[in-house]
Amino acid sequence: MLELRKVRRSGSSGPERAQGICLPFILLLLMFTPSVDSSWWYIGALGARVICDNIPGLVNKQRQLCQRHPDLMQSIGEGAKEWIHECQHQFQHHRWNCSTLERDHTVFGRVMLRSSREAAFVYAISSAGVVYALTRACSLGELKSCGCDTHKRGRAHDELGDFDWGGCSDNVNYGIKFAKAFVDARERMVKDARALMNLHNNRCGRMAVKRFMKLECKCHGVSGSCALRTCWLAMSDFRRTGDYLRKKYNMAVEVTMNQDGTGFMAAGRNFKGTTKNELVYVENSPDYCLMDRTAGSLGTAGRVCNKSSKGMDGCEVMCCGRGYDTTRVKRVTKWIRSGPKNQRMHGLCLQNVNPCWTSMATVQK
Ligand SMILES: *[C@@H]1O[C@H](CO)[C@@H](O)[C@H](O)[C@H]1NC(C)=O
Ligand SMILES: *[C@@H]1O[C@H](CO)[C@@H](O)[C@H](O)[C@H]1NC(C)=O
Repeated sequence: MLELRKVRRSGSSGPERAQGICLPFILLLLMFTPSVDSSWWYIGALGARVICDNIPGLVNKQRQLCQRHPDLMQSIGEGAKEWIHECQHQFQHHRWNCSTLERDHTVFGRVMLRSSREAAFVYAISSAGVVYALTRACSLGELKSCGCDTHKRGRAHDELGDFDWGGCSDNVNYGIKFAKAFVDARERMVKDARALMNLHNNRCGRMAVKRFMKLECKCHGVSGSCALRTCWLAMSDFRRTGDYLRKKYNMAVEVTMNQDGTGFMAAGRNFKGTTKNELVYVENSPDYCLMDRTAGSLGTAGRVCNKSSKGMDGCEVMCCGRGYDTTRVKRVTKWIRSGPKNQRMHGLCLQNVNPCWTSMATVQK
């Protein structure tokens, strides 16, 4: 297990090179190379019981920040439930549906070991989630180290005219700064394609929250004339960030590391422009059709599909051509409440191609 991780993290030099390296060096590597498969994400599963020493997968810097700021960790933990929920919302109709593993330190399982588009999305939305949770907690006065944005003072103006800063402006820059220090700490310890990819996508996620800051105002003056306004900057609903990152997932750019290993470039010659605000990935995705323990794929057997859809949620795509069962839908999916008509539109993906089932299920129109 450890062996495997080492090989993945050591980049392109390959395992055979390690034989020439002296033992102390290897020991050092063992001590300081973080494992890819567990991370701060697990804080969300711990809920109120965040004890910094007990979280596997925190690197030293993260552990220090954790010990120094237990209140921030609490917010990050609560926030994790939200961004995981948002991820699952965005991918509910996909073969990979952002499902988490119960009581598992890796949270998403081995699927995140691959430097895929899906990993890109998870890193981005998790970083965004930290920014969001911290910023909100700052504004609510729940944290010792931050509050409302004190720079928003005095007079200012927008397209509607002058206004006074008032109320509590969300201090997104604090959230971004802490998220960067905390979340990026692990990736700063290694210099390989995956670390670069994670850092890039983490940043995209942090910036996504800032992108949707909006001005909220209150009118004053005689009978709501709005002659005077006080305004503050507020974050939009996290759904906006989720929708945005989901679009970025669709357009994600495949990249390869450049020769000196300091950055990357788009792998496809057709890509024009900059990857600055795009999600990037290094490896293509598996099809997520079948259960595959090594790849961490759960497969789509038993998933609900939509018979009339040609999209990702359509039965052909979701079930990968294995066929689907329309007879069990009503019993299994109580949540399809929209009546018998809608139930008939759904199927459940089969485990294997089964000739008996196919005649009953797939062929049934
Ligand atoms: C996600 O997919 C897995 C198997 O592919 C399934 O067990 C799980 O219920 C799904 N989760 C949601 C929220 O649909
Ligand atoms: C199933 O797919 C069709 C066609 O895309 C769509 O109109 C319908 O709303 C979908 N049904 C559900 C319940 O998602």
